Amino acid sequence: MPRANPLFVCRVCGGETLKWQGQCPHYGEWNSLSPAASGRRPAIAAAASALHDAPPPEAARFSTGHTELDRVIGGGMVPGSVLLLGGDPGIGKSTLLLQVAAAVAAGGRGVVYASGEESVTQVALRARRLGLAGDGLVAAAETDLDAILGLAREREARLLVVDSIQTVQLPSVAASPGGVTQLRECTAQLVRFAKTGDVAVMIVGHVTKEGAIAGPRVLEHLVDTVLYFESDTGSRFRIVRATKNRFGAVNELAFFAMSDQGLKEVRNPSAIFLARAPEAAPGSIVLVTRDGGRPLLVELQALVDRMRHGTPRRIAQGLDVNRLAMLLAVLSRHAGLSLQEHDVFANVVGGLEIAETAWDLPALIALASSLRDQVLPSSLVAFGEVGLTGEVRPVAYGEERLREAQKQGFRTAVVPRDNVPRKPVEGLEIRGVARVSEALEAAFRKPG
Ligand code: TYD
Ligand code: MG
Repeated sequence: MPRANPLFVCRVCGGETLKWQGQCPHYGEWNSLSPAASGRRPAIAAAASALHDAPPPEAARFSTGHTELDRVIGGGMVPGSVLLLGGDPGIGKSTLLLQVAAAVAAGGRGVVYASGEESVTQVALRARRLGLAGDGLVAAAETDLDAILGLAREREARLLVVDSIQTVQLPSVAASPGGVTQLRECTAQLVRFAKTGDVAVMIVGHVTKEGAIAGPRVLEHLVDTVLYFESDTGSRFRIVRATKNRFGAVNELAFFAMSDQGLKEVRNPSAIFLARAPEAAPGSIVLVTRDGGRPLLVELQALVDRMRHGTPRRIAQGLDVNRLAMLLAVLSRHAGLSLQEHDVFANVVGGLEIAETAWDLPALIALASSLRDQVLPSSLVAFGEVGLTGEVRPVAYGEERLREAQKQGFRTAVVPRDNVPRKPVEGLEIRGVARVSEALEAAFRKPG
């Protein structure tokens, strides 16, 4: 008789492997794998594979009451699907899902909002503060998942919100709430409930300080849609990003602003990161980047300073520091601006991370501006990739970026020559460049 393959389970993240390894292949924990109890097969496998088979029923989708959020999840909530909303404590997860719950309930669908974190009074107070009517919305302060599911069945809920997954537990599972075992078993149970009852489920997951191990990440593979709430500390703006979506595109973004009356959608977010000082300063430039399928205008700042100690420093916020080093070499070799004796700092204002290469050209211009202590025109934007031979290469969606810049009132754009559109963009002088040296000349030339 063939020996059954033993299964190894990571005690930190709960991930499974068929082979013993020193390091867990899921989240990289060391010496955490041990053989699973015999006969224990993943309880979640059946539920998870059943959901791969189900085609998304487009017509059945319903609105969350928030246009931007609907767009991010692919056109509204899919009945029978499970959505996980992750984010730091206090970022606004409960606020958003309470708003969604109230909107869905107002649309005539039964909604159960189960909170293991707040009392019903607290939820009601928050709902009143948010100006939500709450008709048809059943709130429950409950941590027993069986009781929550019982209530959802009894009320024939079409949407169940569980806030948060870290506070609920299944009494039949002998593990503490918030631990990996409970998290996984509760989520698997919610997935089964969603699939069998065709109920949409939204789960809140706090991202824990310790790198999110016992947090939402271990649940990502169980659910259909994963959204993360992001924010810059101190900012009232919030970004909701889809990092996984079985029923739509990933990396779509929705922008919200936290106000006294809860989260408000920002319909025209392309310039929210663009809070510039009234006086233009050397080293500052606006670039058009793309994130979440849309153009965004952001300010990039560079500071070049005489080196103070032995080795020059290269520090970048929101940008890849290795790419910055490469750009410094290009600047030295192809534009005659050497920064070997200088400390170099680069920063994307507003806490955004730019993952594409369109910041190359604006970064070079900003560096030159700081080095020469020469201000760039405040009506100038730029974007473009730069190659090692000093060539300026086109980036995707050039025309869309140019149109967004024009819409936001910019007058001059320095862009890769191959991104210059055939038809002019009204009110925008487009200066196409093919070489780095040419780009610097074009950026500092007066408008007109
Ligand atoms: P919350 O939704 O409770 O965060 P999470 O569930 O992610 O932990 O949001 C809490 C923060 O939001 C809190 O600091 C207060 C603030 N807030 C507002 O500014 N306006 C509001 O209308 C509400 C409800 C909360
Ligand atoms: Mg909360």
